Amino acid sequence: MPTRPHVQTTRKLPTVIETRMMELFATQLGTAPGPLGPSALGKLVQGADVLVPTLIDRLDASFFESAPASLRLIANFGNGVDHIDLRSAAQKGIIVTNTPGVLTDDTADMTMALILATVRRLSEGDRLMRAGAWTGWRPTEMLGRRLSGLRLGIIGLGRIGRAVAARAQAFGMTIHYHNRSRVDEGTEQRLEATYWAELDQMLAHMDVVSVNCPQTEATYHLLSADRLALMKSDAVLVNTARGEIVDETALTDLLAAGRLGGAGLDVFAAEPSVDDRLRRLDSVVLLPHMGSATVESRVEMGQRVILNIRSFWDGHSPPDRVIEAP
Ligand code: DGY
Repeated sequence: MPTRPHVQTTRKLPTVIETRMMELFATQLGTAPGPLGPSALGKLVQGADVLVPTLIDRLDASFFESAPASLRLIANFGNGVDHIDLRSAAQKGIIVTNTPGVLTDDTADMTMALILATVRRLSEGDRLMRAGAWTGWRPTEMLGRRLSGLRLGIIGLGRIGRAVAARAQAFGMTIHYHNRSRVDEGTEQRLEATYWAELDQMLAHMDVVSVNCPQTEATYHLLSADRLALMKSDAVLVNTARGEIVDETALTDLLAAGRLGGAGLDVFAAEPSVDDRLRRLDSVVLLPHMGSATVESRVEMGQRVILNIRSFWDGHSPPDRVIEAP
């Protein structure tokens, strides 16, 4: 084995991370301005031992079919791995790692920001001010809801879901959750969280619903048209996980018809494109996938990537190895 792995990145990473990668590995820094598909990635990765993609790169079955024999590790810069065909990677004996943990707090903060922004109509107020259309304080204008006392239903009480729950609890919200399996009693008690085995039932009773589960085959369109229609007509949906978990067309239809109170969306089904109808709705707050967009998260994500590459190259199982769920 050569002493230093050949590492190929796909796009600009934080400078401090690129510098460290250059020091530690035989690194080729990618400069792709936009998403890379399987064939462009296939060319880029020739001769590399390790590829460092991001969530906008598509590593599907065709990428793995023609991946060079040298490629042994995909060290993803990011937590979600729904853009990587894990089954094909495993068949080729290529290990996949991600960067969990380091973006939990920032994503949870952004979830709270979207809850506040939708429930208290922050973007709408900001637009009014920028348009110079504010005519002064009035007792009945720009009324939102008081967060304290609202019921928050969290779909997916993993790391991020729990961090959202702790924050929402401090705001006086009542915590509810739906998860594949019920969490331990201590966690439920600490978060004063109510478990709903049936997602449909939880949806019908919540004021705010937050999507915090990963995108997998099982969660694709988990919030289907039928399920979205179960939500209360003044409820708000917040999604900082993945756009594909929600049937975006059905969501837009409901919002346009005034049959849902609002939505705070940081992620979309076909990023970076966003349905024009969503853009026009005042009850919607739209963000460009910014959940982990802090200097701290992005540097720590890079540090996890480096750690995974180093431990793999030293012959250990990398700490953030992703195993496909059965
Ligand atoms: C991830 O890492 O999967 C996040 O969506 C990035 O914000």
